[in-house]
Amino acid sequence: MWCWPLAGTGTAKLAIVSTPTPSLVIILAAGEGTRMKSATPKVLHEVLGIPLLGHVLRAVSGLGPEHVLVVVGHQRLRVQEYLRAAAPGALTAVQETQNGTGHAVRCALAELAAQAVQPGSGPVVVVAADTPLLGTETLASMVAEHVDTGAAATVLSAVAEDPAGYGRIVRAVDGSVLGIVEHKDASAEELAIAEINSGMYCFDAGSLSSALGQLSTDNSQGEEYLTDVLGILRSEGKRVSACIAADPDEIHGINDRVQLAQAGRLMADRINTALMKSGVTILDPATTWIGPDVAVGRDAVIERNCSLLAGSTVGEAALIGPDTTLIDCDVAAGARVVRSHCESAQIGPDATVGPFTYLRPGSRLRAGAKAGAYVEIKNSIVGEGSKVPHLSYVGDAEIGSGSNIGAATVFVNYDGVAKHRTMVGDDVRVGSDSMLVAPVTIGDGAYTAAGSVITEDVPAGALALGRARQRNIDGWVGRRRPDTASARSAAGAGADAGSQGQEAAPADSAD
Ligand code: UD1
Ligand code: CA
Repeated sequence: MWCWPLAGTGTAKLAIVSTPTPSLVIILAAGEGTRMKSATPKVLHEVLGIPLLGHVLRAVSGLGPEHVLVVVGHQRLRVQEYLRAAAPGALTAVQETQNGTGHAVRCALAELAAQAVQPGSGPVVVVAADTPLLGTETLASMVAEHVDTGAAATVLSAVAEDPAGYGRIVRAVDGSVLGIVEHKDASAEELAIAEINSGMYCFDAGSLSSALGQLSTDNSQGEEYLTDVLGILRSEGKRVSACIAADPDEIHGINDRVQLAQAGRLMADRINTALMKSGVTILDPATTWIGPDVAVGRDAVIERNCSLLAGSTVGEAALIGPDTTLIDCDVAAGARVVRSHCESAQIGPDATVGPFTYLRPGSRLRAGAKAGAYVEIKNSIVGEGSKVPHLSYVGDAEIGSGSNIGAATVFVNYDGVAKHRTMVGDDVRVGSDSMLVAPVTIGDGAYTAAGSVITEDVPAGALALGRARQRNIDGWVGRRRPDTASARSAAGAGADAGSQGQEAAPADSAD
């Protein structure tokens, strides 16, 4: 009775399709996670930008269950808030005090009854919320095995190098499963067993609820153990199976931050390997962190030290990095994003970003647009082929196509109380160091002079000048800064110190 990995082969896909759909998946997420030593509940700690609970939700949703129910308890408001956003279809049940995994499942079934939710006749899957590496294929193998063997309960097990801390699978001489004994309750003989309980199970619904009613707290932890359900069913003469996970890494539970980091490393390695095999160049996999919800196209190149997270997509032959973070971004084919931090931004085909660019939420660069060095953009559209090449802030703006925003331009969008929008037309030339004070509109083909403060709309085709006129005071240096290097150079250049009466030194003068 072995579960083989099903990923990667055509037959595997067939096997998954034929897997019976569970009527109910229960995710246990009520525990505190003391060893994380954290103000954040354990199940909300993230691996590659996704909370542990989110990874498990992904894995179970691949089974296509009728209902998913999450048992919450410790810091349940925060966990429920996450669930509302990430899995609005999931039900929750509250386990007020954490009296054990069996008690948690009892709470789940009681909540279903209270809500008059009646799952169909398919199997019930129970998983813990702290196993981010768990894959749908492994769960599907367990469910398939459960149905094939006609078992009342099937546990996913693994052969561990170090079984310490886990429950042990106790088998009869004929190999059949007798039950599970917890580490803390195990005899020396049982402690020597290497086959461990992953904490993931598949049950026949009726058998589960009848056995849950028989649980006791007569054990070293004084808790209702879900694991005892298997022994109870076996003693009733029902069939109990154990399905050995082909990949023991998948069942790693996260209990502390060391394991959290290890899980991140393992997951990143798997994702990077799969992407490289699919035609993505990853120059330095050790410093590349790509989430499982991220898609990267063929011939894309990921330079070293990049994080691509939160559902980002990268198109074919795009170049990302080095030193770049993409969170919830769409980068189209052929675009380049170099040494930049981008969040909830859309970067169009062949657009270029960076180096040292900050794209904030709502930044949209159309095809061929440029956000160059030291540029920050927020909630703005940069039209096709338009360029913001250097040292600028663009906020709450819409820039048409073919326009150029000179160096050090600021879109002055905030009056101290409210934000306002700036509209820039097509083929506009905004001079360097312009301040565009919103709300303001610059018409198609208009120019603004360098150093202008633009407070009024500029009609199409006009040049807007909004700066003080320059005044030169001849001979000032010779008179007011005599015997300085500047005065000598000026005299050498034929400057006449003359006598101009009393004139003020410039405000930034060093005297
Ligand atoms: C459990 C299993 C053990 C298995 C191990 C795998 C039992 C009794 N033991 O032990 O055989 O090897 O998982 O990792 O089930 N939870 C609740 N409510 C509770 C208690 C726990 O929701 O009252 C949740 C936790 O949040 C966690 C999961 O159930 O997600 C497992 O609980 P945990 O305390 O980690 O169980 P282990 O002692 O690791
Ligand atoms: Ca655990």
